[in-house]
Amino acid sequence: MPDPAGALRERLQPAFDAVVPGSDPVVRPSDRADYQANGVMAIAKSLGRPPRELAQQIADAADLAGLASVEVAGPGFLNLTLDDAYLATAVEVVGRDVRLGVAEAPERHRVALDYSSPGVGKELHVGHLRGTVIGDSLARLLRFFGHEVIPRNHLGDWGTPFGMLIEHLRDLGVDASPEGFSVGDLDAFYKEARSKFDADESFAERSRQRVVALQHGDEEALTLWRALVNESIRHFDGVYRLLDIRLQPEDVAGESAYNDQLDAVVADLERAGLLVESDGALCVFPEGFTNREGDPLPIIVRKRDGGYGYAATDLAALRDRVDRLGCDRLYYVVGAPQSQHFEMVFRVAAAAGWVPESVVTAHIAFGSILGEDHKPLKTREGETPRLMDLLQEAVDRAGTALDERGAGYDEGERAYLAEAIGIGSVKYADLSTERLRDYVFDWDRMLSFEGDTGPYLAYAHARIRSIFRRLGRDGPQPGAAVTVTEPQERALALALLRFEESLAGTLEHFAPHRLCGYLFGIAQAFSSFYEHCSVLRAPDEVTRESRLVLCDATAKTLSLGLSLLGIEAPERM
Ligand code: ARG
Repeated sequence: MPDPAGALRERLQPAFDAVVPGSDPVVRPSDRADYQANGVMAIAKSLGRPPRELAQQIADAADLAGLASVEVAGPGFLNLTLDDAYLATAVEVVGRDVRLGVAEAPERHRVALDYSSPGVGKELHVGHLRGTVIGDSLARLLRFFGHEVIPRNHLGDWGTPFGMLIEHLRDLGVDASPEGFSVGDLDAFYKEARSKFDADESFAERSRQRVVALQHGDEEALTLWRALVNESIRHFDGVYRLLDIRLQPEDVAGESAYNDQLDAVVADLERAGLLVESDGALCVFPEGFTNREGDPLPIIVRKRDGGYGYAATDLAALRDRVDRLGCDRLYYVVGAPQSQHFEMVFRVAAAAGWVPESVVTAHIAFGSILGEDHKPLKTREGETPRLMDLLQEAVDRAGTALDERGAGYDEGERAYLAEAIGIGSVKYADLSTERLRDYVFDWDRMLSFEGDTGPYLAYAHARIRSIFRRLGRDGPQPGAAVTVTEPQERALALALLRFEESLAGTLEHFAPHRLCGYLFGIAQAFSSFYEHCSVLRAPDEVTRESRLVLCDATAKTLSLGLSLLGIEAPERM
C-alpha cells in the first residue's frame, strides 16, 4: 500500500492528465487538510484559465472514492482529507508488514560511503562522533532502501604526521618491540612528537624523510607503521562496538591503500593535460578556485619532495571507487571545513574523465560539537575529549538517571539499559541536530526523559511494549480491525502512514534530523492518543483491539525508526 501522498497522486493524475497531459498534481502534507494538491495554479497559468474554476473541474473529475474527499481552497488549491476508513485499513496493513509499508527504492545504487575515517596513531575523540554516527545512520537507511553500501573507512594512515610519529618512536628506542604499546600511550606519544616537530627543525626534516622512506617501502618504517595501524584499528573497533557502528575491519581503506595507484593518477592527469609544475610540485588548478588574493588555487598532487598528500590519495580513492568497485554513488561524510577540498577533488576528477554521467558525488558535510562557551568542546583540562571517555560518561550518567527513576532494575538489566540509553542519548542529540549546524553538547538536555531526546523516544517505545506485557500478549490479535473515530486516533494513524515519506526525505537530503523529528512527532501523537483514548479500559472489546493495533504500529515505527538511526529501543525500562 503506497503512502497516502502516493495514493492521492495516483488517483489525481488522470484528472490532471485530462487537462495537461503529464502535469504534476504536486501533493504535499498540509496544515489545513491532511494533504494539499498545489499543481493546479501552474497549469491554470499556462492555459490562461481562472485557477479556482480549473481546480473545481479537476476536483469533480478526480475519482477519489474510498480514499479522500476534496475541496477547492484559496487561489486554487485542492484540500484533501483522507477517509477515516482508508486510514484505518492502511494502518492495519502497515502494522502487519515488517517494513511497515516502506517499499525499496525502484533504482538500486552501489554506494561508496566514506565515513568515520579517523587518523591512525591517535585515539578517537569527540570530533569523530558526528561523521561516525551520521555516516552509520545513512548506511542503515541506504541498505533499508535496498542499496548496496560499501563503507570506506578512509583512515589517515599516511603522510607527514605519521613520519613524525615513527621518528619519535625510534628516538625512544621503541622500534625494537613495537607491539608493546597501547593506543593510550600513543595519544601522549603523538603530543610529544608534535611538539618536537614544531620546535626542532632537524627532527621535522627527519620526519619528512621518514615519510618518503615509508612511501618507498622501507622495512623498518613499515614494521612500526603496521603496529601502529593495527593497534589503532583495534581501538577504533572497541569504540565502534560500544557505539553499535556497523563498520568492520574490512571496511578500512586507508590512505595507504591507494599507494600503488598514485602513479596512475599522475599519468591520467598528465594525459588529460591537467598537470602543471609549480615550485617543483605537480599541481592541478581546477577552474573556478582562487585564494584570497584571487590567484588560482592548486590541488597539490605530488609534493616537491616526491611525496603524495591528502588530495592525491582522495583522487586515487575516487577513481578506485568508480573503476574497481563499480560504485555509482560516492558519498563522503566529512566535516564542513573540508568542503573546498571535496569540491576541488570532484572537479579535478570530472576533468580527468573519471566520473561517468551515471555517477553522483556528494560531500555530506556536518557542523561541530561545541562546549557551553560555544567554542569547540574541551575537557576541564582544556583537551579535546576522547570519544571513549565521553561515551563511558554517557553510560554512567544514564545509569544514574535510571536509578533516580527508581524502577529497581536488577544488575544485568541496569547495565544493559544504562548502555542503551546512554549511547542512544548521545547519538540522538547528534542526529537530531540539523547536519550542517553546530550544537552545544549538553548532558542534562540529552539525557532528559522529557522533550526531543533519545530517552524520551526509548521510553515511549518501552511504555507501549509494557501495555502488551500487562495483557500477557506480544501484540494485537491477528487480523484485528482498526476503526478511527476519535481525533487523536485519526492524528496518530495519519502520522504513522507518513513513515515512508519521512524516510525518503531523510535519505534524499542526507538528513537524519528529519527522521528524528518524525519519530518525536509520533511519540507525541501517541502520547495524546493514550491520554484521550483508553486502551486497556476501552469501552468494548472491538475498540480495545483496534487501539492495540495502533499501539503496536506505533511501537514498531519507533523501534524501526530508531534502529535506522542506530539507536536501540529496549523492550522495557
Ligand atoms: N582522515 C581525515 C581527517 O581526519 C578524514 C578523511 C575523510 N575522507 C576522505 N576521503 N578524505 O580529516
